[in-house]
Amino acid sequence: MKDKVILGVSGSISAYKAADLSMRMKEMGLEVHVVMTAAAEKLITPLTFEALTGNPVTCSGMPEPGKDPMPHITVSRGASLVVVAPATANVIGKAANGIADDSLTSILLASNARVIFAPAMNTEMYNKPVVQENIKKLQDQGGFFIGPTTGTLACGDEGLGKLSDVDDIMVVVKKFLRLKRDLAGKKIIVSAGGTREPIDPVRFLGNRSSGKMGVAIANEAVKRGADVTMIAGALETHVSDDLEVIRAFTADAMLEEIESRFPGCHCLIMAAAVGDYKVRNVANNKIKKMDSLLLDLEKNTDILSQMEKLRKEQIVVGFAAETERAVENGKEKLLKKNLHMIVVNDVSRKDIGFGADDNEVTIIMRSGDEITPNKVPKAELAEIIIDKVVELLPGKFVDGR
Ligand code: CTP
Repeated sequence: MKDKVILGVSGSISAYKAADLSMRMKEMGLEVHVVMTAAAEKLITPLTFEALTGNPVTCSGMPEPGKDPMPHITVSRGASLVVVAPATANVIGKAANGIADDSLTSILLASNARVIFAPAMNTEMYNKPVVQENIKKLQDQGGFFIGPTTGTLACGDEGLGKLSDVDDIMVVVKKFLRLKRDLAGKKIIVSAGGTREPIDPVRFLGNRSSGKMGVAIANEAVKRGADVTMIAGALETHVSDDLEVIRAFTADAMLEEIESRFPGCHCLIMAAAVGDYKVRNVANNKIKKMDSLLLDLEKNTDILSQMEKLRKEQIVVGFAAETERAVENGKEKLLKKNLHMIVVNDVSRKDIGFGADDNEVTIIMRSGDEITPNKVPKAELAEIIIDKVVELLPGKFVDGR
């Protein structure tokens, strides 16, 4: 079956270049559906795209009687990728703020597919903080931006704002479509969020994990075709409907849910912040205020170490939340828990780690390889982490088991 790609064309002078892009995508064997904004329709006709793609074009206005009344739903269904090229400041702004007042912006809201934006606009517009904020917002939600590049703009100015070359856009399109399938047929368990160990019916011992990193990893794995089950403790982030989520708030509950699924999975990614201790005697009633209170804590079972006993061919990835000697401690954990890979987080920094939208980590492989990507939004880091997982799958254990 052909991959279905939606090409959104918005009103920049460079809209004519989208004709070439649509043809190149069709030549690549893709089923291309073009969606145009009203401004784009003034710059290039829908007929051009219909002729080049062989498919009807979705225009900006309300559908005619007798035609498909909900093209934004019909077109988005089954799409593997949405490419917005050129993407104007207007479309970027609407997409970033959930505004859906025409076909293209409605599709951007209705579709769960990955979106590539290729911005094109005047330099001043591109550099405006509000535009940059909108871009950042979309990147945080998994949107990918290519360009703009520097050159002579339609307005005559020289600067940043030119639509990226069609060749470069095609490289990204190919990359995304190839990546999308590289986890097809793989069952992946991702744990996310923080555990909450009860003290009494109203209180618990918890931690600062928001679950954003785990959810980003689970989303990325879904996008790339994996069958993902997310075992989640407390989350402070949005979870999309297409993610299968099993709630497990205590370390014991998380252990039980993971243990029962682990034998049938290809990979376990333990992004959850699992509490190290639980209260030995949880009170049945609310504990009354006293001058002091001593809690008797008992160590929780380490889920990763427990899974080690059940492991056959599974790839196991751990996280390390550290506040000092991050890389050294991470390496120790990788060896102690016999992991294929560990993602080391310095949670003492406010701009990354718990609750933050960005993250900067060191990824250490069992082989000894180490990478430290730049600080990036968690969705982008999830892509890097999953790239590494894909390299390990189908994996053999380094120690030969
Ligand atoms: N982990 C686990 N089971 C636990 C505790 C942690 O499987 N009971 C996993 C985490 O999900 C993470 C890795 O072990 O992938 C490391 O967790 P971290 O909290 O950094 O380290 P700990 O092993 O708990 O050690 P310490 O708290 O002493 O740093």
